[in-house]
Amino acid sequence: MKVLIVGSGGREHSLAEAFAKDINKKDIYVAPGNGGIALDYKCLPLRSKEEIVEWCRENHPDLVMVGPEQYLAEGLSDSLNEEGISCIGSSQSAARIESSKIFAKTLMTKYHIPTASYVAFEDKEQALAYVRYLGKYPLVIKADGLAAGKGVIIADNQSQAEKAVHTLGNKVVVEEYLKGWEVSLFVITDGKDFKTTLFSQDHKQLGENDTGPNTGGMGAFCPVKEAEPYRKQIENQIVAPILEGLKAEGCPYKGFLYCGLIITDQGPKVLEFNCRLGDPETQAILPLLQTSFTDICYAIINNTVSDLKLKWSPQSSVCVVLASQGYPGSFSTGFPITVKPSISSMIRYAGVENKDGQLVTSGGRVLSLVALGKTLAEARKKVYKDVNQVDFNGKYFRRDISLRKNKL
Ligand code: AMP
Ligand code: GLY
Repeated sequence: MKVLIVGSGGREHSLAEAFAKDINKKDIYVAPGNGGIALDYKCLPLRSKEEIVEWCRENHPDLVMVGPEQYLAEGLSDSLNEEGISCIGSSQSAARIESSKIFAKTLMTKYHIPTASYVAFEDKEQALAYVRYLGKYPLVIKADGLAAGKGVIIADNQSQAEKAVHTLGNKVVVEEYLKGWEVSLFVITDGKDFKTTLFSQDHKQLGENDTGPNTGGMGAFCPVKEAEPYRKQIENQIVAPILEGLKAEGCPYKGFLYCGLIITDQGPKVLEFNCRLGDPETQAILPLLQTSFTDICYAIINNTVSDLKLKWSPQSSVCVVLASQGYPGSFSTGFPITVKPSISSMIRYAGVENKDGQLVTSGGRVLSLVALGKTLAEARKKVYKDVNQVDFNGKYFRRDISLRKNKL
């Protein structure tokens, strides 16, 4: 059994660890991976879709698991399927659920899925005229295409709204601002049936108490008990109809679907769908999964998700991201990373490279630490103890991961 994981972050490191419960480590490849993942797994210097397809053609992996959305939006999954290679990742046309906000919002409206009301624009002047006419704040402005977490601006006044339209380009969605608390849910589907995972919660903003700019995610925890009462409603009113809708539109969804939800006083609504697993949520969820991840992948491929039994540890997990000072703005790299051997948390490497045998920082989100505990409080205590066991120049992290009050 040979597996290729595509991507280079903490999510992909977690995926490698999940496969390693079933498969020999030497048969797990990561492309391109990073210097930290390479301590345990073979990392391949493949970056483009073409390079990945070429490697697969020559090396015949039994399974390819795609982490990031860009490859799926470029059609990697379709290209691999054409080669007869099993790939976990949505088709290019289904990936539009993430790669085009206009596509996603149109679909949600057509299939009556609760989400913020919106108007889509393909012309900047029209968007500006609408924003001026509306005059209601806060107002949410989203770029249509993939924007690596930088495509959403919440404007508090007219000048911010106009600036947002200028920044985000011609194709934008102008959306009602929703009040509530956010939660993430992953869906496992073969296009026919689906199962949902535990709920998890990302902490997207840089600063404590959810202040400052949005980032790729500063930490996550799992499970989110406060979301459980909404599970059936989310499955019936959001998950089932979006999968039906995608099928009816000729692009059935197969793989993992990420639902970014907000619980409002009118119930759960969709903020976004992503065509992949979340980062850093995956780092928090996977250590609690007791069902074999490889079995889950084969259930997706073989259309047997209806028979899949998901088993979860009753524990809780907390994941804290250690980032470079300055992120998500500009930051310096190349600082040596030291890890004390007494560390007990799991380490998931992201922005890290190996320079002459020494791990050094190479990205904004450098690594994450994940700890499990009987309770969320216990997991949090463990992970924050270990934050001091890792050091690098300019280490920055949030001290309040998992402390959010999930109440309306
Ligand atoms: P998205 O990429 O669409 O999930 O947006 C990124 C973040 O912006 C979300 O996690 C929310 O915190 C915020 N956001 C997006 N849309 C809305 C909305 N309609 N109302 C309030 N906040 C939003
Ligand atoms: N955690 C947010 C995302 O993966 O998009």
